[in-house]
Amino acid sequence: MVNLSKEVKVSAETLKDRLVDIRRQFHRYPETAFEEERTGEYISALLEKQGLEVNKNVAGTGVVALLKGSQEGKTIALRADMDALPLQDIKDVDYSSRHPGVCHACGHDAHMAVVIGAALLLIKYRDRVKGQVKFLFQPAEEKPPGGASFMIEAGALENPAVDAILGIHTNPYLPVGSAAFKKGPVMAAADLIHIKIIGSGGHGAAPHQAVDPIVAASQVIQGLQLIPSRMVDPLEPVVVTIGRIQGGEKFNIIPREVELEGTVRTLNPRLRHEVREMIEKILGGISSACGAQYELEYIRNYPVLMNHDEITGHVIEASREILGEDHTVILEKPLMGSEDFANYLERIPGSYFFLGVGPEEGSPIYPWHHPGFDINEEALPTGAALMAWAALNLLEKL
Ligand code: NI
Repeated sequence: MVNLSKEVKVSAETLKDRLVDIRRQFHRYPETAFEEERTGEYISALLEKQGLEVNKNVAGTGVVALLKGSQEGKTIALRADMDALPLQDIKDVDYSSRHPGVCHACGHDAHMAVVIGAALLLIKYRDRVKGQVKFLFQPAEEKPPGGASFMIEAGALENPAVDAILGIHTNPYLPVGSAAFKKGPVMAAADLIHIKIIGSGGHGAAPHQAVDPIVAASQVIQGLQLIPSRMVDPLEPVVVTIGRIQGGEKFNIIPREVELEGTVRTLNPRLRHEVREMIEKILGGISSACGAQYELEYIRNYPVLMNHDEITGHVIEASREILGEDHTVILEKPLMGSEDFANYLERIPGSYFFLGVGPEEGSPIYPWHHPGFDINEEALPTGAALMAWAALNLLEKL
């Protein structure tokens, strides 16, 4: 297998210009969540031309393509997300977004190019593929409830049933040529809270005749910070952030109500359920002390992204073979961001990992969702080789 890994790596390098073209095509014509029509058409036409069985318009704009190996075996899925962000591209390059106010600023264009690259490689090495590989292009990762749950409902993990799934995300803080892995929890559960504090309005000069929802809301905001600081084990990560406050008309009017909106992040599925009760308790106590009423809407978005230990172990081994020990990074900590890849992992085992797309030395690094975000395209063949090699190896080991 050592020689084969070298061969796959060399083959991936020869695909580089093609993968750059493909990625730039996506980058020029980005589409936001659930609107990835052109993107889906492009992918399905390309993979059909390669002779794969292609299912298009899965869950709207999604594409599922199947490669049958030359030997019987299990089925691995490789997933890429397709959506761009509602953001104006500020880059001045020939592949800048042609769609005003829409930009691939999270690298999903690269994810698609990498999975297409893996498909091209696995087609080339079909005689070494022991089983099936499903290429899963999913709409709307950026917009909860996310495209993953719709892909699952549409049967993307059936026919043939998928035994394990792999997903990749660009990481601009990781040098190009490398990838990063972690067993267990990798990304947080993300829930949305919407709170209304209802008082009764009145004159700013006569607060005793009113119930002031602004004072109550300010105490609620403080009170919610008791959750990470006093109510949850300090060794358990939890974030409660209020990102929006709205209320009031004028400096001397006590308004009737105040709205708060925020996000709750947890890495432990049990704690995720408990935090909701803690919020309710704090809201109830403070509102009652202030004489106000409250309404809480708690929307569960993406669950904790929990990597499968054994499969992640196999992928790490595959990375050491194809990228080398020095380019295989083991992450110590999870991220508090979230990903709807977690929905697949609630159903089947798999692993989600990060591809280094860091810029050349001296160039600025822009974070994800920044209007100047870009990737180092040298990463495209690296990602394709890694995905293809991981899939080949997993099929041998499962
Ligand atoms: Ni993303």
